[in-house]
This record gives sequence, C-alpha cells and structure tokens, in this order.
Amino acid sequence: MQIVILRDSDEVAEYGANLIINQLKRKPDSVLGLATGSTPVSLYQRLIVANQAGTVSFKAVTSFNLDEYLGLAASHPQSYRYFMNSQLFDAIDIDKANTHVPPGDAEDPIAACEAYEAQIQAAGGIDIQLLGIGRNGHIGFNEPSSGLMSRTRVKTLTKATIEDNARFFGEGEYQPHLSITMGIGTILDARKVLLLATGESKAEAIRAAVEGALSASCPASALQLHRDAVLVIDEAAASKL
Ligand code: GLP
Repeated sequence: MQIVILRDSDEVAEYGANLIINQLKRKPDSVLGLATGSTPVSLYQRLIVANQAGTVSFKAVTSFNLDEYLGLAASHPQSYRYFMNSQLFDAIDIDKANTHVPPGDAEDPIAACEAYEAQIQAAGGIDIQLLGIGRNGHIGFNEPSSGLMSRTRVKTLTKATIEDNARFFGEGEYQPHLSITMGIGTILDARKVLLLATGESKAEAIRAAVEGALSASCPASALQLHRDAVLVIDEAAASKL
C-alpha cells in the first residue's frame, strides 16, 4: 500500500486527477472503475477541465461504477447513474454506451450482478479503480463483514451508511436500504486501486484500513492485499495514523 498524505482536499483531487490523466495518456482505451460520493466530485471537475482543454480524451474509455442503489431507476436524481451523468459523463467526450453502472431497476438483480461481472471481464478487467471510503471502512457498498473475496452482489446497507447518505435525500423521500455493489474480490482484481479520503470524519476508517488487521470488519483493509493500491489522503484523514 502506498500512502500519499497531502495538505487538503484540493491537493488530493489534483493528485488523483493527474494519476487518471496519466493513465489515459499511457492507454487511451483504459477501463476505469469509478466511484460516487462527495469525495471524487472535485477530481471529476478536474477531469472535465482537462477534457475540455484537450489535454485528455475519453472517447476510447470504458467505465464501470462500483455500485448503485437497488430500487432507483437511472432517471432518479439520487441514483448513482444520475450522479455520474451529471457530475462527469455529460460534460466529457465519453461514449455513454461505454459507461456502466449496476442497474438499480433490474427485474432480476441477482442475474444483473452476474452480468455485470461478465461485462467487466469482457472489457478486459479494470485498469484503475477509484474508491472513496465510508466512515465505517466500507468501499463501494461493501459494508463491514463483507466477504474479502466477494463478487458483485446485492448488499443490505448498514444503519450508519443509511444515516450518512440521508443528507442526499429529501425529507420523506424514499431512501433505499439495498444496493448492488462490486465485491471486494472484484475491486481487488483491478490492476491499480486509487482510494481518496479527506476530512477528519474518515481518520478512524483510514487508521483501521492502513494500520489495523486485515479484516472484514474494515472492508478497506483488504487493500493491504493489493500489489498496487495508492491511498491519497489529506492531513485530516491521516490524523490518526
Ligand atoms: C457511499 C458510496 C461509497 C463512498 C461513500 C463515501 O456510501 N457507496 O462508494 O465511498 O459513500 O462517500 P463520501 O465521499 O460522500 O464521504
């Protein structure tokens, strides 16, 4: 595990964006694993600026997102598909047909999970997987106690995650308790993993992931097994190391 500690969230976004831009310069048809949450938003803004300036192209890129709420259609403003379209895809030259987010409205979610794994394989696997981290150490929606070898599947969200994400939903609005998420094994298959974390609220999860035991209690600790995992964090997120 490589740990890069930077001053603040701007520097984290800049560093992460440059890693992705360099990856695309080396391999324009890269397969990107993408993430939602508030942490990657400023990294995406930098990718948009670089794309619009002509520094980097996404025309040949394929993408796979980590997770989606089960029960929300792509058109729902809180769905992760909607998030990705509005925060990144609509503003860059990527072919939307090459972007993949698990289908939150699948009639047969279990079959959809298997199909998602097959699509990743057919694309040649993920070159670089971007990750955030939950306060409880989750990656994607792999909550504590997730199998370290798990594949894409339906997962129940913990109370803590539902509460953390409630801020995105209006009062009285339906908030799903289920998700489809890539498994920890799926994430570990990526050739490179880039986890971003900023702010003091992530400090304990980062401590457990980096210095704690390899354990399903902290899903991000599984990255200790990965041969090319980079954690790019700010001083606040590093404060318990
Ligand atoms: C959600 C997502 C995760 C993300 C986490 C942290 O639960 N499923 O992929 O890492 O939120 O989000 P934030 O970056 O907003 O703290």
